[in-house]
Amino acid sequence: MHGIMNPILVTGGCGFIGSHTVLALAESGWPVVVLDNLSNSSPRVLERLRELGAPPLEFVQGDVRDASVLDALFARHRFEGVIHFAGLKAVGESVAQPLRYFDHNVGGTLQLLQAMDRAQVRRVVFSSSATVYGDPAQVPIPETAPLTATNPYGRSKLMCEDALRSLHQADPRWSIAILRYFNPVGAHPSGRLGEAPQGVPNNLMPYVTQVALGLRPHLQIFGDDYPTPDGTGVRDYLHICDLAEGHVAALRALQAQGLLTVNLGTGQGVSVRSLVETFAQVNQVAVPSQVVARRPGDVAQCYADPQLAQTRLHWRARRSLADMCADAWRWQTQNPQGYDSTP
Ligand code: NAD
Ligand code: UD1
Repeated sequence: MHGIMNPILVTGGCGFIGSHTVLALAESGWPVVVLDNLSNSSPRVLERLRELGAPPLEFVQGDVRDASVLDALFARHRFEGVIHFAGLKAVGESVAQPLRYFDHNVGGTLQLLQAMDRAQVRRVVFSSSATVYGDPAQVPIPETAPLTATNPYGRSKLMCEDALRSLHQADPRWSIAILRYFNPVGAHPSGRLGEAPQGVPNNLMPYVTQVALGLRPHLQIFGDDYPTPDGTGVRDYLHICDLAEGHVAALRALQAQGLLTVNLGTGQGVSVRSLVETFAQVNQVAVPSQVVARRPGDVAQCYADPQLAQTRLHWRARRSLADMCADAWRWQTQNPQGYDSTP
C-alpha cells in the first residue's frame, strides 16, 4: 500500500464481524482504533488479533452513544474513516425492547455521525442487513428492491439507512457505504477468531455447531413446508472472512465515490437441510435434528444479487459452503466456551 495511512476507527471492533474486519484491515496495512463497550464481546479478542499478526492497536472501552468519548477519540486521531459495527442485533430481543434498540442502533449512529461531522471526518461504512428487504418479492434480491421493516431491529437499520441517504443528499462532502449483509457464518481458518453468542444462539450456524459438539441435544428445523426445493428456508450464507474483505474493498471504493449501497452475499441460496448435510459431511459429525413449526417472522427465501458489489467494490465472495462449515467447526471445537476457553 501507499505511504503512511491514517487510522480507521472501528466501532464494535471486538464483535463477530468487527474482529475479522480489524484483522483484514491490519493485513491491508491500515492502522486501526477500536471502540467497543464489550456488551456482546470479550476483550480477549484483542489478544487473539495480536497472535494472528495484527500490530498493537488502541482499544477504547466506551459507548458509541457517548459524545464525550467520541470527541476525545476524534481529537487524538486524524481518522481516514469509520466502520460502524456497534449495535444490537437480536430480532426477538428487539421486539421485547424496541426503545433500547432504537437508542443503541439509531441514537448511537446519530451520535457517531455528529461527532464525525464536528471532526470533519466524513467517510463512513455502515453495517446494514438484508433484513431491510423484508419478505422479498423476488430472489436474487437487487439493491433496488423495495425496503421495509418487519421488526424494531430491521426498522432501526432502515432508519439509519434513511438518515445516511438524506445526509449525503444534503451534504455531498460525505462518503457513505451502506453494506447489506446476508448471513455471515464461519470463522477465521486459524480457529482463533469466531462467533461467540451469549446464551442460546438465535442463528442457524452457531446452533448447528453447538449441537454437533453435544452442548445441545438437537437442532430444531423451523418449518419444512416453505415453497422451496426441500421445504426448508433458503438463505445466502457467506464466509465471515469474505465479509471482512468486503469492508476493506468498500473503504477503497469510497475514496472515489460518494454513496454506495451494496449487497454482500454469495448469490447462492442454501436451504437449512443442505447446510446441515454439508456440515455433517465435511466435518464427519452427526447433527441430530427435528422439524418443528415455522419461526414467526421468517421468510421462505432470501439471497443476494451480488453483481453490484463486484462492479462497484471489485469484491466477490470466494469461500465455499464447505469452507464455512469446516471453519465454524474448528472454531467451536477449539473454543467450546468461546473466548473464555483456555488457552
Ligand atoms: P456483535 O454483537 O458480535 O458485534 C457488535 C459489537 O458492538 C459488540 O462487540 C458489542 O459489544 C458492541 N456494541 C454494542 N452496542 C454498543 C454501543 N452502544 N457502543 C459500543 N459498542 C457497542 O455483532 P456482529 O454480528 O459483529 O454485527 C455487527 C453489525 O453488523 C451490527 O450492527 C449488526 O446489526 C450488523 N449485522 C450483523 C449480521 C449478522 O448476521 N451477524 C447481519 C446483518 C447485519
Ligand atoms: C436472522 C435475522 C435477520 C438477520 C439475519 C442475519 C431473525 C428472525 N432474523 O435471519 O434479521 O438479518 O439473521 O444475521 O432472527 N433456523 C432453523 N433453526 C434454528 C435457527 C435457524 O431452522 O435453530 C433456520 C431459519 O428458519 C432460517 C435459517 O435457518 O430459515 C437461517 O436462520 P438465521 O440464522 O436465524 O438467519 P435469518 O433467518 O436469515
